[in-house]
Amino acid sequence: MEIADVRGDLSQVLLTGDEIQRRIGQLAATVDQDYQGKDLLLVGVLNGAVWTLADLARELRNDCQMDWVAISSYGAGVTSSGVLRLLKDLSADVAGRHLLVVEDIIDTGLTLSYLIENLRGRGPASLEVLTAFRKPAAARCDVAVKYVGFDIPNDFVVGYGLDYAGRYRHLRGLGVLDPAVYNR
Ligand code: IMP
Repeated sequence: MEIADVRGDLSQVLLTGDEIQRRIGQLAATVDQDYQGKDLLLVGVLNGAVWTLADLARELRNDCQMDWVAISSYGAGVTSSGVLRLLKDLSADVAGRHLLVVEDIIDTGLTLSYLIENLRGRGPASLEVLTAFRKPAAARCDVAVKYVGFDIPNDFVVGYGLDYAGRYRHLRGLGVLDPAVYNR
């Protein structure tokens, strides 16, 4: 779905689908270099990171595997509840493996801190994070994020996997949701 199809619900278009694809391609090249000869497991955070992980993985030249976790998030609102729960765990044992957690967006960093702590306890050989988007507040969280697609303003955004009440995930680009939509 293109941004133009929901233009009326957005107050601003931040990134086109093509711009996001180009950046993910650049990140993939760096990941390829960094993980050459290593047993790489991409860990996607459902549901939002499906797009980022799928696009990243298809740009990688080196072999990799994929697994998924789900963590309770915002529900139908636009702010975090702060209470996190693992809704779906990894399928495989990750001890001794090189993990790259793939996120759609880091806002407060709460979700990521929770996940990192959980995964570290399982003894991976290494653990890094890649996110498509990062908001300014994330800079204050104490989780190091090695690969960042774009730093974006502190607005509620939709598209490229990010939703509001289950909508807009399948937009190819990224836009700021007009507050009129969630104040309705
Ligand atoms: P954090 O725990 O505050 O870093 O939030 C992480 C999760 O909140 C993301 O994986 C998204 O699911 C959701 N989220 C954060 N900001 C936005 C946004 O602007 N639009 C849609 N979802 C968001």
